Amino acid sequence: MGEKILITSALPYANGPLHIGHMVEYIQTDAYARALKMAGKEVLYLCADDTHGTPIEVNAAKQNKTPEQFIKEWFKKHKTELESYFIELDSFYTTHSKESKYFTELIFNRLKEKNLIYTKDIELMYCEHDKRFLPDRFVKGTCPKCKVKDQYGDICESCGTTYNPVDLIDGYCVLCNNKPAKKKSNHYFFRLSKFSKKLDNYIKNNKKLQPEIKNQILNWIKSGLNDWNISRDSPYFGFNIPGEKDKYFYVWLDAPVGYISSLANYLKGDLAKAEKHWNESKITHVIGKDIIYFHLLFWPAVLMGSGFQTPDNVVVHGFLNVNKEKMSKSRGTFFTAEDFRKIAEPEFLRYYLTANLTHSMTDIDLDVENFKARINNELVANIANFVYRTLSFTNKNFGSKLSEIKDKKLIEAIIKKSKEVIEAYTSFDYRKAVSLILEISSMGNKYFQDNEPWELIKTDKEKTHRVLTDCVNIVKILIILVKPILPKFSEEIEKQLKVKEQNFSDLDKKLENHKIGEAKIILKKIEELKLDLPEKKIAEEPFAKLNLKVAKIVKVSNHSKADKLLVVNIDMGSEKRQIVAGLKPYYENPQVLVGKYIVVVSNLEHANLRGEASEGMMLAAETKDGKIVRVVEAPKSKPGDQVYIDGISIGKETINFDEFMKNKIYVENNKVLSNGNQLQTAKEKLKSEIKEGKVR
Ligand code: 2FM
Ligand code: ZN
Repeated sequence: MGEKILITSALPYANGPLHIGHMVEYIQTDAYARALKMAGKEVLYLCADDTHGTPIEVNAAKQNKTPEQFIKEWFKKHKTELESYFIELDSFYTTHSKESKYFTELIFNRLKEKNLIYTKDIELMYCEHDKRFLPDRFVKGTCPKCKVKDQYGDICESCGTTYNPVDLIDGYCVLCNNKPAKKKSNHYFFRLSKFSKKLDNYIKNNKKLQPEIKNQILNWIKSGLNDWNISRDSPYFGFNIPGEKDKYFYVWLDAPVGYISSLANYLKGDLAKAEKHWNESKITHVIGKDIIYFHLLFWPAVLMGSGFQTPDNVVVHGFLNVNKEKMSKSRGTFFTAEDFRKIAEPEFLRYYLTANLTHSMTDIDLDVENFKARINNELVANIANFVYRTLSFTNKNFGSKLSEIKDKKLIEAIIKKSKEVIEAYTSFDYRKAVSLILEISSMGNKYFQDNEPWELIKTDKEKTHRVLTDCVNIVKILIILVKPILPKFSEEIEKQLKVKEQNFSDLDKKLENHKIGEAKIILKKIEELKLDLPEKKIAEEPFAKLNLKVAKIVKVSNHSKADKLLVVNIDMGSEKRQIVAGLKPYYENPQVLVGKYIVVVSNLEHANLRGEASEGMMLAAETKDGKIVRVVEAPKSKPGDQVYIDGISIGKETINFDEFMKNKIYVENNKVLSNGNQLQTAKEKLKSEIKEGKVR
């Protein structure tokens, strides 16, 4: 046996279901670990649930559970999902374990002995009502820079500015909405600043890191590293800091220690053995691009400071989008791993994701049509069908027996290509691996087709037999090559071929004068992918019938034949229209309406109201008592701008008043909503000066 290798995926929080974004990482890591194992390396693939921190403590309490109970339930669910997708971990453990506690304390004590940890008082946000200090994500308020409301305590999602929670304007506690106070607390800091030079060398000398990441980290180091707060106040769910009553290790300190404790779990709790094994290993962490800082600065520094082996490689992948957009619950494109395997085979997702993965941080797009096409045309039509027709032809015509290889050159060429596939796997270029595999499969299909065995057998059975033997050998090579991606499929075909578990070393072993088993179809085409189900549901929404546009009021006059009606002339960008509106009783001086940017139902059938044409309707909000009515405005938008809700289509046909009335549009906290979703234009989310009430 050669060197020891440890491979890890980032630890999922025990705080919610795994989704298909998580699966990108597990599938990527799993395929890598499987490929190395198939190449005969001494590899362990490790992961664990990340169980500590405020969100877990708060969410458990919300469900009336103890955090222990709460994380146990998620652990079980995560384990089931990982297994369902054939993620073959050597150890899936938890950070809430005695091994994690041991290693976290060990590391902390070693750092402390080396004077790499100190304490100091800092000022934090504290909620008197909830009796707790509030981490970044538990304080919201107005961004001090761009003044957009409802931003988290660490970063403004609107302008991207980062700040401290204490800097927020009108900050409030997300748990109780009360205004938090500033309060001092004593905290433990890790002297990250002392590691600038060492980290700089570590990163510079690493030949495996992706270049774009290297640059990013080196820039961070150059701009100066701050010491790192590694403690949190109670209430908290985590490990108590030794010698302290109400202080805990920050979850991000003990999370990566979970990699070591998962190894210890694999070694049946032998702590000394785990430390030794870790230090003798080449360690590769696979992570998403959002946690680079933790894995390439904090973590290596902590390991260096405490005398543990640092990672040899950190592989960073991008995010998963669905239909080119960030996964979103409201758009119906957020899929848990469990949802997804109910609509498509887990191996289909494994195939699709790997077929799109390269050694880069580029985001991957799960495009529904492309997904269907790649599965049907490549995986099923090219690979699986070749396997099936070869084996079933052999079953039927040769009593499942093989003879000898005919075209040695072809087989040699294919074996040569296989080596490139292995090379692509081990350099994380799965897209290349898949494309080479498809080339091989196409070669097999072409060979089968060109030889027309169904014709040839009529004249030369012996030759046909040898052609089929070649094809079976290509099948065997194919299933070895796809195994890191499609372990279940490969295993099934191994059974059909009646061969033992195959590894890369079996690639050049020939299958001759052997009897295979019965061919069965394993993977079938996707007839219909119900991935678009949520969209269909959305299309049934009455809102999907509406076509709302922004318009500017250019003129307002009284209706000559009706007291309560106003005749309003509007500019909709590409056209001008007239609308009759019953707003007169609600505006003391209706002329204030002139110049306002309002929202119009542009596809409402036109009407004639007491002799005046009304070509649409404007949206207005009314208070619950019906006393005040105000037009809905879109002050930052332009005439003609589309008003929409993310993920809901725009009505294309003319609708009548009844169809419009099926909509329940309303305001809540000044937000204009339909079914909980806020109406918007490309430039703004719609608000009303009325706080609460309905819109019509
Ligand atoms: O970002 C996350 O989901 C973290 N739970 C990842 C932790 S990875 C490791 F450091 F433990
Ligand atoms: Zn509070």
